[in-house]
Amino acid sequence: MTKTVTAQAGGRATPAISAQEIDLHYGPARVLREVSFDIDPGQVVGLVGESGSGKSTLAKAIVGVERISAGTLTVLGEPAGAARGQSGYALRRRVQLIPQDPFSSLNPRRTIGQTIAEAIDPRRSSLAGHRDEIVALLERMQLSADSIDRLPHQFSGGQRQRIAIARALAVGPELIIADEITSALDVSVQAEILALLDELLADSGITMLFISHNLAVVSQLCTDVMIMRSGELVEHGAVAEVFVRPAHPYTRRLLDSIPGSPGFSLERA
Ligand SMILES: Nc1ncnc2c1ncn2[C@@H]1O[C@H](COP(=O)(O)OP(=O)(O)OP(=O)(O)O)[C@@H](O)[C@H]1O
Ligand SMILES: [Mg+2]
Repeated sequence: MTKTVTAQAGGRATPAISAQEIDLHYGPARVLREVSFDIDPGQVVGLVGESGSGKSTLAKAIVGVERISAGTLTVLGEPAGAARGQSGYALRRRVQLIPQDPFSSLNPRRTIGQTIAEAIDPRRSSLAGHRDEIVALLERMQLSADSIDRLPHQFSGGQRQRIAIARALAVGPELIIADEITSALDVSVQAEILALLDELLADSGITMLFISHNLAVVSQLCTDVMIMRSGELVEHGAVAEVFVRPAHPYTRRLLDSIPGSPGFSLERA
């Protein structure tokens, strides 16, 4: 994989995401607890953990939607919160979040073309001049050219998810946070989308944090994996290492509970 790296003084690449002992509270509830990790540019990293462990909260902190209460969180070399303000416009484009439920994030009254044009140029949000580019993007996601003039409700769930990916790619992001983007889909549609993603990511230099419940999916797409439990990161390493020799009992339990996920085998990892 080609890596787009920015050199630091010491010769080491600036991490795409660097978290040092971050905490995040919702009121009195401490939802992230001293979370520390670095993700290098070009890495595709899975984030796995049970429901409520804080995965989406971490995603929101990274894109600047939620504010951390302690620690340091740097995204593409900038403090995470910098994406929020007026001056965060450029950073917001470099980091794209693909949400779990694209239906709620696609405007029901705007065509797919209008929605993607708006992502490309929020000040004009006009299709003029972007039509060819958008059709090419849709076709890359295996959607027909006439999708451009249709409304979100005229697509299946899997197609809408591909539209959400196309919209994220439209701005040429350096970092994509994908939050459970295939969880709601059936296994065959999930496999199609994963294959597309795999192809898109190869040699792109794009860094991805891929949040999923599904260890099989993570082993297929990701080079590295982080395991989260009750707001703490309990394990982080290469997929092959973590899945074959899990260091933490919680990871071992997650792996033991897999028989329900078809196609998973440690051989893959
Ligand atoms: N806006 C909020 N206000 C208060 N508590 C919240 C808020 N959002 C999430 N929480 C709580 O924070 C914890 C972590 O939630 P989060 O959505 O990050 O979990 P998750 O790992 O993404 O779970 P899932 O796998 O179900 O998506 C949960 O206990 C949740 O109830
Ligand atoms: Mg979540």
